[in-house]
This record gives sequence, C-alpha cells and structure tokens, in this order.
Amino acid sequence: MLKLAVLVSGGGTNLQAIMDSIEDGRITNARIEVVISNNKNAYALERGKSAGIESVCISPKDYSSREEFNLAFLEKLDSYQVDLVVLAGFLVVIPAMMIEKYKNRMINIHPSLIPSFCGKGYYGLKVHEAALEKGVKVTGATVHFVDEGTDTGPIILQQPVAVKQGDTPEALQRRVMEQAEWKILPEAINLIANGKVFLEDGHVILQA
Ligand code: GAR
Repeated sequence: MLKLAVLVSGGGTNLQAIMDSIEDGRITNARIEVVISNNKNAYALERGKSAGIESVCISPKDYSSREEFNLAFLEKLDSYQVDLVVLAGFLVVIPAMMIEKYKNRMINIHPSLIPSFCGKGYYGLKVHEAALEKGVKVTGATVHFVDEGTDTGPIILQQPVAVKQGDTPEALQRRVMEQAEWKILPEAINLIANGKVFLEDGHVILQA
C-alpha cells in the first residue's frame, strides 16, 4: 500500500480528484496519510478533514525565517513516513533539501503541456493567461517527477485540451482541470502505486 502525502495551497480540487479516485477504485494500492498546506485558509484542508484524513497547516508566517519554515515543513513531512509526495496545487518553492530527500518520490501537476508555459512565475491562473496571450490552440496538463529545476523533471503523463475562441483564463483553467488534471493526476498515482512507472536515462517508461 503506497502511503501518500498530498501538499496543497488552495481550493484542493486535485486533492478531491485523488480522494474520489481512491474511493471509487480508479486508484488502487494507495492511501492518503496526510494533507499538508502552507496556507491556513486553504479549502483543501476542509476537504481533507471532511474525508477523515489528517490535514495540517505549516505556515511560513509562524516562522522567523524561510530556513526555519523549510526545516519545520520537512520535519513534519518526514514524520508521516510516506512513499510518495504529491504536489497538488502546492504553490511553494520546494527547498533543495526536500527535493534531494524525495528524489523520484515526489510528483507535481502543472496546468500546461510542459515545456510550454512553465518554470518560474507560471502557476495557477497565470499559466492560462500566458497560453491565451500566446494564442495557442491546444494546451493541457502535465504530471512529472520533481527535480531541482522548476517544472523540469521527467514527464509521467500529459493530456491535451482544446482552447476555444473567446476563452477567459478562468474558463480555460476549468476546462484544463476537468478534462486533464483531475484525470491524469489520479492515473499517475495509480500507475506508481501499481509499480508501472520506471525511470530510464531521465525519462519515464510506463509499463503496459
Ligand atoms: C491547479 O490548476 C494546479 O495544476 C496548479 O494550481 C491549481 C490548484 O488547484 N498548480 C500549479 O500551477 C503549479 N505550478 P486545486 O487547489 O483546485 O487543485
């Protein structure tokens, strides 16, 4: 049984998709051990609590420096002894120490087809604003392993989504969530939980 920590900062719709998928069997061999947020007001914490999952907040506001916060966060995460860390809308820069410790055991969902519209400064609605600004006709979402770079780790799954004439960033964000994120994040977790994801020369190989 793969033990998961789901790290969140906001609404938690991706967390909800993971919980629903565990409930209805789209994800097997995995359970959420803890939900951790950096933001006390994240609705994701309510979602976790309502499902009976331990849901805690470690806020940078409660620490005098970023280093202290990073250490406290890592200590908290370590205490749950999870097998996989899932960044599900976690909008905090992951400290190098944590990336090193959870190498090949930490995945992220990003709301574009990497390498488009990713890297520093591209998160949440900003990603969709940039896609509309550029005028792309197709966007989507990507699940990838987390490495030292921003959105640069090995890609596990991607799902394209059509951009429609007259889309607002909010409308596009919603379509990308519904048609891509809420599907490929649970699917990636299920593949990992069932031993179907391998890394070879920095690339992901999926077993059929
Ligand atoms: C999602 O769209 C996720 O892909 C994005 O934040 C949103 C969180 O929504 N993550 C990033 O932009 C990371 N770079 P949620 O809290 O409803 O799951």
